Amino acid sequence: MINFSEIRDLFPQINTMVHGKQLVYLDNAASTLKPLKVIEAITKHYTSEVSNIHRGVHFLSESGTEKYEQTRESVRNFINAQKREEVIFTKGTTDSLNLIAHSLGSLILNEGDQILLSTMEHHSNIVPWQLIAQKTGSKIIEIPITESGEIEFEEYKKLLNPKVKIVSIVHTSNSLGTVNPIKEMIPLAHEVGAKFVVDAAQAIAHEKIDVQDLNCDFLAFSAHKMYGPSGVGILYGKEDLLNLMPPYQGGGDMIDIVTFKQTTFNDLPYKFEAGTPNIAGFIAFNEALQFLENLNLDEIKTYENNLLHYAQNELKQIKGLKIIGTSPQKGPVCSFVIGGVHPNDLGTLLDQQGIAVRTGHHCTQPLMQRFNLNGTTRASFCLYNTKEEVDYLVKSIHTSLELL
Ligand code: ALA
Repeated sequence: MINFSEIRDLFPQINTMVHGKQLVYLDNAASTLKPLKVIEAITKHYTSEVSNIHRGVHFLSESGTEKYEQTRESVRNFINAQKREEVIFTKGTTDSLNLIAHSLGSLILNEGDQILLSTMEHHSNIVPWQLIAQKTGSKIIEIPITESGEIEFEEYKKLLNPKVKIVSIVHTSNSLGTVNPIKEMIPLAHEVGAKFVVDAAQAIAHEKIDVQDLNCDFLAFSAHKMYGPSGVGILYGKEDLLNLMPPYQGGGDMIDIVTFKQTTFNDLPYKFEAGTPNIAGFIAFNEALQFLENLNLDEIKTYENNLLHYAQNELKQIKGLKIIGTSPQKGPVCSFVIGGVHPNDLGTLLDQQGIAVRTGHHCTQPLMQRFNLNGTTRASFCLYNTKEEVDYLVKSIHTSLELL
């Protein structure tokens, strides 16, 4: 059994003071705090282990390469990918999605082809597809969502046809918390010959994800939303597809032989890893993965789910407060609006009381348009948050409303 209150001691930033108040960090969907071990791994690298990887025969380059590649093996194991070649290191989810859109898109999209995206996608799972759609003459088709913030499954089925080449869907919505039924969506996309991309940025730290069980073609996520460093991301892809796809960026490490006439490319995964990466970040990411591996994601999910339900029930008691995103299947994200109150005003007053929440459109403007909103206030939880923090949030909202 996980002792959730002891976990708080592993995160130094939990003790930070903001405006003279104890920090209550409820912006985990934006980025989680980091355990001391992750911070120490970064410090250690920059204190005594700096070197470049894959490039030197000297001791530090070789030991750095070994540590860096160990993270790849840990990621492979964490998502149960079949091979390390299927784990591409990127800068983050946005970078991973841009890579797929441009590389896969330029390989398989033609004039008149279709890309299916849902209304609740993050801008990073819309704009890269728009860019490649413009280049290839393909079209983006929106899968609508219900009032509770769930994909209209029957509409999704109707939209599937042989012109659909790519379906790209968020696993857990950053704005609504909705957990989408991707396991049911994937085989339907495959039936019409489409490739299925999963944006797992908000899901990866909150439930077990097994890429072989899902049978997704691609999966993207970031380290910084799972207790690791920022600037570190993952793209999982099926090996046969990655082998067919052209490189996304050119530069060092992704080549085999370069002449002015012609260049041949490195094998997977390096074909997609041009340039010197965030070496310290990837090495430290292994500590975040070990931290999660030592816990139990099912237990984490239950704990966070209980906290979410507690928060939703308490928040609902506030007069005029409406929760946006009421799917029965939710990750630990609670977005809400309060009649007549601008989310930024509320966010600013909560900040004065030491509470970090996100306000605004959360990089999901089409979703806000769907609900006719300019934004929401979003509290997002993770394994170190407590019921006491939720109580303090509710109390602080009341204080803020009195001031407004
Ligand atoms: N996508 C991140 C969020 O939802 C940054 O806050």
